[in-house]
Amino acid sequence: MRKETKKLIDEFRNEYMCEGAAASRIIKPYVEFIGEEVMEQAASALLLGENLLLSGAKATGKNVLAENLAWMFRRPVYTVSFNANTDSSALIGTDTFKGGEVKLRPGVVSEAAVNGGFCILDEINMAKNDAVAVLHSVLDYRRLIDVPGYELIPVHPATRFIATMNYGYAGTRELNEALVSRFSVIRMPALSEERLAMLLKREAEGASEAEVKSCVGLFMDLNEKAINGEISPNAVDLRGLITALKLIENGMAARDAVTMCITNKCFDDYEHTLVDDIVMSRFA
Ligand SMILES: Nc1ncnc2c1ncn2[C@@H]1O[C@H](COP(=O)(O)OP(=O)(O)O)[C@@H](O)[C@H]1O
Ligand SMILES: [Mg+2]
Repeated sequence: MRKETKKLIDEFRNEYMCEGAAASRIIKPYVEFIGEEVMEQAASALLLGENLLLSGAKATGKNVLAENLAWMFRRPVYTVSFNANTDSSALIGTDTFKGGEVKLRPGVVSEAAVNGGFCILDEINMAKNDAVAVLHSVLDYRRLIDVPGYELIPVHPATRFIATMNYGYAGTRELNEALVSRFSVIRMPALSEERLAMLLKREAEGASEAEVKSCVGLFMDLNEKAINGEISPNAVDLRGLITALKLIENGMAARDAVTMCITNKCFDDYEHTLVDDIVMSRFA
């Protein structure tokens, strides 16, 4: 990270100290994000007040990056996981009865807005367009939440929105232009062999060089098959690979670990056989 960027982040932290209950949401992430350039670009955009859209395949580290950014800026994290049923009330709030009165129960986006949080809009392209339309005024220069029947809620100056999207998976939609235009977009790069080896060593410190090498090779093989359309991208499961390596580290036979964490996630017989053949060639 450039010295100038670091300095600006320090200034941001000092200007917006987070206190009270929201501070409990300032969390050091479990995994450190690997990728200096992407980190630098993301931080620079956030410093300018931009919101980020991270687009990329599964397990390219979108959530890890979002969590690392929130920690770097020392902001509380609020996460919305989008699905086809997500509606605007879950985002901005709903009416509730409390002590005989109608009150607003704030949604996650409103909470983040009031508390200067970093709001992770996770897999935003799973949502229906009308659900996300309420976000337009929140995300653009107006920085206001409009809950019908209530006063406008201004968005705290430290609040940022980081959306993630997997492209082209079942259930995902195209994001509409009006929404996309409100973000700076980062295309998450695929992991290189060197980076993957680094990541695996960090996750399973006790694994041997040979075990790490086999796992990297397996990942690259699976990735290539997925790119060629021979197997589905779902079979390339980095999280599964990490778990497998941890099991190997703890003494499980490599074949068994990989079968549990990767191969058996392919429920289609044909795909299962293909993946099993690849696994066999790496873990004889
Ligand atoms: N660049 C990266 N830096 C650190 N971890 C990564 C990176 N890319 C992938 N991972 C690993 O992949 C797994 C999935 O990451 P996640 O952020 O949940 O992916 P996504 O949200 O893109 O599907 C995590 O266990 C993480 O350690
Ligand atoms: Mg994710």
